[in-house]
Amino acid sequence: MRMRTEQGEGQVPGTDAAPGVRVDVYVKPGDAQRALREEVLQGLCQPAPKELSPKWLYDERGSQLFDDITRLPEYYPTRREREILHAHADDIARLSGADTLVELGSGTSEKTRLLLDAMDAAGQLKRFVPFDVSEAFLRKAADGLAHEYPRIAVHAVVGDFEHHLGRIPRVGRRLIAFLGGTIGNLKPAQRALFLRELSSGLRPGDGLLLGTDLIKDRERLFAAYNDSAGVTADFNRNVLRVLNRELNADFDPEAFEHLAPFDETHAWIEMRLISRKAQSVWLGDLERRVDFAQGECLRTEVSCKFCREQVQTELRDAGLDLSAWWTDSDGDFALSLAMKR
Ligand code: SAH
Ligand code: AVI
Repeated sequence: MRMRTEQGEGQVPGTDAAPGVRVDVYVKPGDAQRALREEVLQGLCQPAPKELSPKWLYDERGSQLFDDITRLPEYYPTRREREILHAHADDIARLSGADTLVELGSGTSEKTRLLLDAMDAAGQLKRFVPFDVSEAFLRKAADGLAHEYPRIAVHAVVGDFEHHLGRIPRVGRRLIAFLGGTIGNLKPAQRALFLRELSSGLRPGDGLLLGTDLIKDRERLFAAYNDSAGVTADFNRNVLRVLNRELNADFDPEAFEHLAPFDETHAWIEMRLISRKAQSVWLGDLERRVDFAQGECLRTEVSCKFCREQVQTELRDAGLDLSAWWTDSDGDFALSLAMKR
């Protein structure tokens, strides 16, 4: 895939990146649109249960809606993870010994500032690499971070962590942060592939800081993904707006109900859009019609919940040894630090 580099450490500034920010783009709008078409042909136009990958939820509006979700009273993961980072960012900086922080699925990087501050205070921070598929949002976040941390290089990567892990800069001693529980949005087989691929690009001494949501009381899990203000419902339906815009489709988002039940067998929350009636949707650019029966589901995301043993086993199978495990005071969420063997 061709890459566009706008500005680098020591390079001439580009036109639309702030000073001190370099942006490498591995997912360009045309590539994303092609990938979306392929996925829609596979995931919506086949007789099998309808499904789309959660990455399509995150256009600019979707990224903003996720940010709104993080402040909902029912959505505990962000607050819990922030609590752990507050308590242990210094330990993480010391134990990892990293001078380069890479963040996968970085979003706003809001909690990450706790880590950046701890690494900076330890006198070891040289660079930050936020990596996300949502380009506009990433650019905004990277510009803000460059202003807040003028002493470090900010090297943003617009990439898909299922395809472009090999593009993570191989500089310095790296700590890869994958926060928020986003690893749970990969199903077990995808997760194993992802962890193996990530680990194979690390050098001994590099580390992974992994956020995972833990199995808990079913009512709290349900409430976190079915909030009373309907923000998660809006986030979920946003994928239909993405399809309308990118594929000239004619979905009526309100003709689909949001539901996110907990699946006990898989230990995951499953985000669904359920057709309120029998309906046909026209996918203009694909010249295809998709039929939905009344009550038919489109799965838009899974969000896996974990226990310590499972996280440790999955990391070990990928060649990563767990060196620390921290949870919040209620045991809702965990951060694992694992080092490359
Ligand atoms: N890490 C932040 C944001 C989590 S939201 C937090 O903890 O709050 C998930 C983020 O992952 C979004 O910013 C989304 O754009 C990004 N994302 C989702 N799928 C992705 C993929 N396949 N590759 C890269 N980024 C992805
Ligand atoms: C980004 N990810 C970890 C969120 C989660 O909890 O699985 C996405 C989300 N989906 C609905 N609410 C939040």
